Amino acid sequence: MSDGATSPDPGELLAWYDRHARALPWRVPPGAAHRADPYRVWLSEIMLQQTTVPAVKPYFERFLTRWPDVAALAAAEDAEVMAAWAGLGYYARARNLLKCARVVAGELGGVFPDTAEGLRALPGIGPYTAGAIAAIAFGRPEPVVDGNVERVMARLYDIAEPLPGAKASMRARAAALTPEARPGDYAQAVMDLGATICTPRSPACGICPWREPCLARARGTQGERPVPAPKKGKPTRFGIAYAGLREDGLWLLETRPAKGLLGGMLGWPGSDWAEGTPEEAPPAKAGWQDAGAEARHTFTHFHLRLQVRVAHLPLSAKPARGSFQPLDPASLPTVMRKVHAIAAPALRHD
Ligand code: ADE
Repeated sequence: MSDGATSPDPGELLAWYDRHARALPWRVPPGAAHRADPYRVWLSEIMLQQTTVPAVKPYFERFLTRWPDVAALAAAEDAEVMAAWAGLGYYARARNLLKCARVVAGELGGVFPDTAEGLRALPGIGPYTAGAIAAIAFGRPEPVVDGNVERVMARLYDIAEPLPGAKASMRARAAALTPEARPGDYAQAVMDLGATICTPRSPACGICPWREPCLARARGTQGERPVPAPKKGKPTRFGIAYAGLREDGLWLLETRPAKGLLGGMLGWPGSDWAEGTPEEAPPAKAGWQDAGAEARHTFTHFHLRLQVRVAHLPLSAKPARGSFQPLDPASLPTVMRKVHAIAAPALRHD
């Protein structure tokens, strides 16, 4: 046991990764003779932003089957890609994904830039994603710092400063540790350590390959690292969504404006979402009824409570907004699926 007597060795972590790397569909196994396909690395890293590995896996597999390379994705219709992304959240990622695919497939002749700097210039690629792709797909020794890596650094060096201020020292520590050898495996090894051993609650310090040099473990502070940012309460917004079903089984839906929350996604017409009492905004004249339940959903910055209004509409209906379409609920973002789950039974029973 030591209190900073030994410093963390990237080689020790790599040796652990050689034995314990998670098998993930976008990865090549540790020490493989070839590097991972940049398209797969890029797609997975975009999907993994703010999203867990189990949630991403089925989406990644479906995207890859449908669009096996960047040229295929670049040629897809916007609406098809948005529908395939539905349920994964943070929809600006899907809009930027398409923009990026089109730049790479077009101007760049189908080849991803092979440096972090070149990657940063592409739509939707920030410093984290650029570093991850440069390291994993191109073997560049770039620091790759996500929430998992921050937690590992906070414990390894017992960083007592609260977030978000502590990010700078976490990054500096992560950068100083990044090795020249096998930087892609190293980046993924730190992520795997953070996801499987150095977990937010109850870290499994006893089996950690870095248990000896870990200052938080030596001092017993691992449960208090990283020190969280002061909690800000989330406001609640209110709104009304209108689910109209025409006699022929088509639903009144609209594509949301490209900019803003759920931009470019399919949804129910409705009121604005605001902190006060929402104003009625029916998209067509009809006997709108309250469905008797609210759709509740939490976004990054607020909670949303949506009243659900339902109506049967005649074939002659002339809506002021939206258009009648067949509906596959899987092509809706989660909050809009919740509205459908309330509206559909309410319409069957009246
Ligand atoms: N989270 C973000 N990128 C990841 C990766 N390449 N492997 C595992 N978890 C990740």
